[in-house]
Amino acid sequence: DTTRHYRFDIRYENVTRLCHTKSVITVNGQFPGPRIVAREGDRLLIKVVNHVPNNISIHWHGIRQLQSGWADGPAYVTQCPIQTGQSYVYNYTIKGQRGTLFWHAHISWLRSTIYGPLIILPRHNSQYPFAKPHKEVPIIFGEWWNSDTEAVITQAMQNGGGPNVSDAYTINGLPGPLYNCSAKDTFKLKVKPGKTYLLRLINAALNDELFFGIANHTLTVVEADAVYVKPFVTNIILIAPGQTTNVLLKTKLHYPNATFLMSARPYVTGLGTFDNSTVAGILEYKTPSKAHKTLKNLQLLKPVLPVLNDTSFATKFANKMRSLASAKFPANVPQKVDRHFFFTVGLGTSPCQNNQTCQGPTNATKFAAAVNNVSFILPTTALLQSHFFGQSNGIYSPNFPNSPLIPFNYTGTAPNNTMVSNGTKVVVLPFNTSVELVMQGTSILGAESHPLHLHGFNFFVVGQGFGNYNPNKDPANFNLVDPVERNTIGVPSGGWVAIRFLADNPGVWFMHCHLEVHTSWGLRMAWVVLDGKLPNQKLFPPPADLPKC
Ligand code: C2O
Repeated sequence: DTTRHYRFDIRYENVTRLCHTKSVITVNGQFPGPRIVAREGDRLLIKVVNHVPNNISIHWHGIRQLQSGWADGPAYVTQCPIQTGQSYVYNYTIKGQRGTLFWHAHISWLRSTIYGPLIILPRHNSQYPFAKPHKEVPIIFGEWWNSDTEAVITQAMQNGGGPNVSDAYTINGLPGPLYNCSAKDTFKLKVKPGKTYLLRLINAALNDELFFGIANHTLTVVEADAVYVKPFVTNIILIAPGQTTNVLLKTKLHYPNATFLMSARPYVTGLGTFDNSTVAGILEYKTPSKAHKTLKNLQLLKPVLPVLNDTSFATKFANKMRSLASAKFPANVPQKVDRHFFFTVGLGTSPCQNNQTCQGPTNATKFAAAVNNVSFILPTTALLQSHFFGQSNGIYSPNFPNSPLIPFNYTGTAPNNTMVSNGTKVVVLPFNTSVELVMQGTSILGAESHPLHLHGFNFFVVGQGFGNYNPNKDPANFNLVDPVERNTIGVPSGGWVAIRFLADNPGVWFMHCHLEVHTSWGLRMAWVVLDGKLPNQKLFPPPADLPKC
């Protein structure tokens, strides 16, 4: 196992897309940011140096951070932000994980430009559960706003109802040829005929779940959220913000001179004035062959993507995702449950905070999003520090509510109460608690699915369905054999998902919707996992350079 050193200098850089130039915050001047490549078992030391006026914090999305919660990164949850002129070394070891993840800023909306791939290769002596690909290619989806990100946040926080539509989706930072003034900013993948490529797909977009496909080619899904899955073939994949998916692309033998579009566009359930434009990249066969000249008119074939609200595609796709559950890669699904939780997730309104711009439906309320009707307020110091030093008083309270497990109509069209309360409440779990959590989408005001992301753990998705969760009937159909294991799952609008995880990682772990606008509105909460008895069950003390608030 190796120790790998990286340095992230946070700086402004001018970036031009769609003929608009703006100054954006970058890592090492790159947009998207640099790629981190490591192997399972490696230790990473990443020094982040802040040269901009904004507060900064970086999250290593999907890394379990066993005993190293201080390196997780969400601002005001595991650390205070890195202030101007300061630096912090994120120090962690990659234990028992390999696959595609990503890193991104975890403060305000800075992940709109501060993000990049985090690739964990298998150990030297171990192999993929599929044939070694000819080449590996990270493909990271993002969004581009012509206006300033801060202006976008203000718009989302104040205008409430209106989704903050970006001006383009991007592939590796490039919007592609279907947008105006963008043809030169197109991602091109040059391939050889008859080879297998491993595409590492990452959805780093702020607010949209995406369909992705490549014209005239099929994709074999082999991994989700850095966990191998049972391979399945599909024309199109669906990927939510916060999710990663590895697919194998086998190139054709007989199209040596052709060019194909790969493209992605949003999936939204329900109606909304979402941007339905499409980001595209180009798949180009690089070995020109005179014998196939006639195929030139096949240029720019476009993939057929499902319609914007194809819920049946989404459901079928989700059901195909299964853990490998093999001898070498077992699915350690908790078979017994110590604590059952039932959380509603949805949008609503909440009372204004002092000193906050408040433009909700009435002037004393603001638009909000909540888990069990609590809209989570970030504290002014980090939860993990308060927990570790036993100073939670006035910072957070351990009384996050649980909802009763009774049949109830959460998805009716006329809910009587959309007013939620503000609070900084957490659930406290003893070490090694086996948790089952059912999340019910209430679809009260909005109609999007919520990609819920859990820090510090992978969980198993043991069940999902439309309508209301029925605690008397649904558990009988749970898959406890080969459910997919991941860190981000879409809670369908007007539907539910059930997940299980073992709380074997001491620390404070954030859980939130990975749609940035919903996180900002409060669709977030935290789990505090207490230390176990043995030394390897305890959180290490904080590093000396941990930023102060
Ligand atoms: Cu990728 Cu808390 O986030």
